[in-house]
Amino acid sequence: MVPPRVEVFDGPGDVGARVADLVAATVEARPDAVLGLPTGGTPGPVYAELVRRSAAGEIDLRRVRVFLLDEYVGLGRSHPRSYRATIARELTDAVGVPDDAVRGPVTDGDLDTACRAYDDAVRAAGGVDLQLLGIGRNGHIAFNEPGTPFELTTHTAVLSEPTRRDNARFFTDPAEVPTLAVTQGPALILEARRLVLVATGAAKADAVAAALEGPVSPECPASVIRRHPDAVVVLDRAAAGRLRPAPTPR
Ligand code: F6R
Repeated sequence: MVPPRVEVFDGPGDVGARVADLVAATVEARPDAVLGLPTGGTPGPVYAELVRRSAAGEIDLRRVRVFLLDEYVGLGRSHPRSYRATIARELTDAVGVPDDAVRGPVTDGDLDTACRAYDDAVRAAGGVDLQLLGIGRNGHIAFNEPGTPFELTTHTAVLSEPTRRDNARFFTDPAEVPTLAVTQGPALILEARRLVLVATGAAKADAVAAALEGPVSPECPASVIRRHPDAVVVLDRAAAGRLRPAPTPR
């Protein structure tokens, strides 16, 4: 196993710029690259920086293809809190990625069929070139909660109560947070050619330390990235705060 490369920066803005550089390098090498993207709070500065660079003519994302990591069951894609609507609002509409080049798991109809179709769609596109990942405070990646077998590809996941509570900040009524999602599983995530796990803020420090320094185990889903030959972890000082020895910020 090659250990992930860990890069530490002062704050979320520097992290956003560094991850935007990694996206830019991928897209320069391959203008129609397949990007695997998360939603949530962490990627906000990354997407803002990509939108800024795109408006300034510094990057051209119009030919990329996007696969979302996960999607809530029960909201429908036009719901403003759906991950499909979120990525359009925060990134893809603003940088000119056509609507039909952005795919997320289908979450209505027969979910098993939808899961297999999503695996097939990712693989038919040639696989993901660059997969960005956030991390939950309990170590989840995508909606793979602790205990999820590493062998799973796209599957239906029951959200843990801590995850639902963390995500309630995006909803006006906390009861609205769905209880189910369709998510890429660890095995499909590992098929990406490069993984970039991003974390900012002290609330993520324990999960980051468990992922990088604890056992590689389904109990900490993010630890699976240590089975990938090209994984980069981009942190701010606060999220790196429990790593030993403390890495030197760039
Ligand atoms: C969202 C996703 C989740 C988030 C994680 C961290 O698509 O895959 O695993 O990355 O819950 O969320 P934030 O960034 O809001 O702390």
